Amino acid sequence: MSRSGISAYGDYVAGLQRLAIEPRSAVDWEKRTLAALNGQASTELRRVVALKTRRQFGAFFTGSQLAEKFIACCLAFAKGAVIHDPSLGVGDLLLAAASRLPLRRTVSATLRQWGRQLTGTDLHPEFVRAAKARLILLARQRHGVKASSVTSTSGFFPGIRVADGLTQFTAYERATHLFLNPPFGLVDAPPDCDWAGGRITAAAMFIATALERAKPGMELLAILPDVLRSGSFTAQWRQRIEELADVKLVEPYGIFDDSADVDVFLLRAVRRASSQSLTPHPWTTATNQPTSTIADFFHVHVGRVVPHRDPETGKEHPYIHPRCIPTWKIVRKFSEKRRHEGKVYKPPFVVIRRTSRPGHPYRAAATVIAGKKSVAVENHLIVCEPIDGTLAACKNLMRQLKTEAVNKFLDDRIRCRHLTVGSVAAIPFES
Ligand SMILES: C[S@@+](CC[C@H](N)C(=O)[O-])C[C@H]1O[C@@H](n2cnc3c(N)ncnc32)[C@H](O)[C@@H]1O
Repeated sequence: MSRSGISAYGDYVAGLQRLAIEPRSAVDWEKRTLAALNGQASTELRRVVALKTRRQFGAFFTGSQLAEKFIACCLAFAKGAVIHDPSLGVGDLLLAAASRLPLRRTVSATLRQWGRQLTGTDLHPEFVRAAKARLILLARQRHGVKASSVTSTSGFFPGIRVADGLTQFTAYERATHLFLNPPFGLVDAPPDCDWAGGRITAAAMFIATALERAKPGMELLAILPDVLRSGSFTAQWRQRIEELADVKLVEPYGIFDDSADVDVFLLRAVRRASSQSLTPHPWTTATNQPTSTIADFFHVHVGRVVPHRDPETGKEHPYIHPRCIPTWKIVRKFSEKRRHEGKVYKPPFVVIRRTSRPGHPYRAAATVIAGKKSVAVENHLIVCEPIDGTLAACKNLMRQLKTEAVNKFLDDRIRCRHLTVGSVAAIPFES
């Protein structure tokens, strides 16, 4: 995998390293340090490294607002706490940790102590150098004007280094705290993985690996893609996490930032000794409601037509996709037709658009499909077939989907932009 795109960041990092050893009396040192510790490292990365490269490595750094919320979830560090970030980027989560660590008499003594307590890895040497320089800047900033200066950035933070975070098992075993905002890109699940197959988010791998290797009592704090909290296909991952740890906090946060348009949540979990009992945690607050749900009255599926993949062969059917049917209507006539050999659906049934933004007026925008002919349905629609086969059940469902209660339920349950079969099936429904 080429990492040449990231090397464009090297000049900025060299500037950070110079700033870390400049005297405080240098022009604007305080101001430049404040910028280096708050957002500038991320802005600079966006300026010099293409989005494609940043996506390839999941190089999206935690902003100060989210970092503050993150650290507020963590209990106070005990004296010998060791905080490890296996995908540290330019160190934003370790900076949040360091802001809570005590100072020693001199900057050098503080840095030596922090060096014993803060460890981390990243694939990119530029990021590792930047993280160390920023930690030095934070120590100097916190020490104030009287503190001694630093003459070199090398030699500090021996536990912060270039490595593949997924393979550094000793670091997981030593840590009392694991801080993670891992890459979210898709990777192949290892062949021996028993909680996932095929392509999975690297974030799921990082958390499971970390918890498998950590010692009992280790506290994990992570920023993760919302799909791990709310997706139906990630249920086995959640189950694995509950086997390994007591889940203490699951808190939806919203969009990561304006450069990475993905919903995230905060997870806090404590590694359990294997003998302790399981204490399942509701990952979504709405899941435990005792009411009946759509799944009790409808069969719920994703439409089966994948337009650019499926050949247009076989019998011709009326064909629906989100752009050719109005919402909140009963549709009996269809403007489009398509040949399709796979599954088609016999009306009446309800379709719900899969694309659904948190906070939109309607999270589950629906249409009732009536008429006599079986219909081919595109895969951006979720199909709800009434178990009693009646149009009345479909109308009742469409009416209930238009309510604020359903919006609130889905906002809580699934923050990502695509409704899942699991989230629709779990919507409370009264017959
Ligand atoms: C989402 S960023 C987060 C960085 C930092 N923890 C933060 O919160 O700002 C993920 C980082 O993981 C790094 N990364 C990706 N794959 C990795 C791996 N296998 N081992 C170590 N670091 C990795 C990327 O280079 C990137 O800096």
